[in-house]
Amino acid sequence: MQHENGFFGPYGGQFVPEEVKPMLDELYDVFMEFYNDLNFIKEYDYYLKYYAGRPNPLYYCSNLSNFLGGAKIYLKREDLNHLGAHKINNTLGQILLAKRMGKKKIIAETGAGQHGVATAATAALMGMECTIYMGAVDVERQRLNVFRMEMMGAQVVAAQSGQRTLKEAVDEAIGAWVRDGSAYYLLGSAVGPHPYPLMVRQFQSVVGREAREQILAAEGRLPSACIACVGGGSNAIGLFSGFLEDTQVQLIGVEPAGRGLQYGQHAATLCLGEPGVMHGFYSYMLRDDLGNPAEVYSISAGLDYPSVGPEHAYLKDIGRAQYVAVTDQDAVDAFFMLSRLEGIIPALESSHAIAHAIQLAPTLSSEAILVVNLSGRGDKDVEQVERLVRRGELRIPTL
Ligand SMILES: Cc1ncc(COP(=O)(O)O)c(C=O)c1O
Repeated sequence: MQHENGFFGPYGGQFVPEEVKPMLDELYDVFMEFYNDLNFIKEYDYYLKYYAGRPNPLYYCSNLSNFLGGAKIYLKREDLNHLGAHKINNTLGQILLAKRMGKKKIIAETGAGQHGVATAATAALMGMECTIYMGAVDVERQRLNVFRMEMMGAQVVAAQSGQRTLKEAVDEAIGAWVRDGSAYYLLGSAVGPHPYPLMVRQFQSVVGREAREQILAAEGRLPSACIACVGGGSNAIGLFSGFLEDTQVQLIGVEPAGRGLQYGQHAATLCLGEPGVMHGFYSYMLRDDLGNPAEVYSISAGLDYPSVGPEHAYLKDIGRAQYVAVTDQDAVDAFFMLSRLEGIIPALESSHAIAHAIQLAPTLSSEAILVVNLSGRGDKDVEQVERLVRRGELRIPTL
């Protein structure tokens, strides 16, 4: 595992109040014990296979590739997992840790609601109590996911402070965990204080392992590039981890440029941010003039976070991965293009990665191969996009 005492280069660490450190240290010890325990791995693999439905396929988009010309585009179909996103890979791993720790209560935050839904499901599966913190704006944007969480027995608490999106949900979830140390805090992305970025990366690494095997089976060679959207960075680091040692494979993370790269209109943290501490870890972050977390925006509720996983910050600095940004309209164009050409409706988050692949593919030769992480399905976003189109705030692209 490529980290030293919880740091990836200078990034990561535990910038938390003294009383939280023992809770994190206990979690690290339990994770290290069980992640190397064959019985734990066996149980985790069992649930990945029979509950989540892994392995999911690596799908060659022949229509999209022929339409664009240039590189061949493959999609890693995380959208086909139970509940429709990559989040289940992590929640299954962490819920099994919580079970081994004898925990009965789960706390989590959610942005788009996908992590909340995956947490609510696995808590129901294990018979545990579950409280999900979600920004009040996201509760509105992702109403269907709120209902899904409640159906599975979770209590959803709307975070009313600040911008009322993902950052505030994390603030309130951490606060609740500090107040109630008997609960397990099930963090949904590769962010937060050590050991979360490491744990979440390990539980998501199944994406990269499968994708590497599958592309070798399909093409007999490695891809030219792996592309994934970056919110906190868990689906991207999951895919990238399978190819980190293959230095000929370009790793590209795609951030949300929202309505444009002016202050408050995007969440392109690695593209435009600076190193700093937020939510207990040191990484790139977007700040306002006073040095506080900046206001952020993206059409997609899972990407509007003003910091990013520390391993991505490190991969950027050492030049192993590149980070780019695409706008809301680029993502929406990709959302419609994949739906029309392949009959696959991608999540708006994943649409950012697809948008970059759509821009890149025609610039490459037909020998090139792009593996794009389709981190989730778009059913949750259809109502929101339909509303924006109806109000004239977005346009449906013509092919
Ligand atoms: C489908 C989907 N993709 C991507 C993300 C972004 O998270 P991460 O960067 O941790 O993969 C989310 C977050 O909610 C999501 O629901």
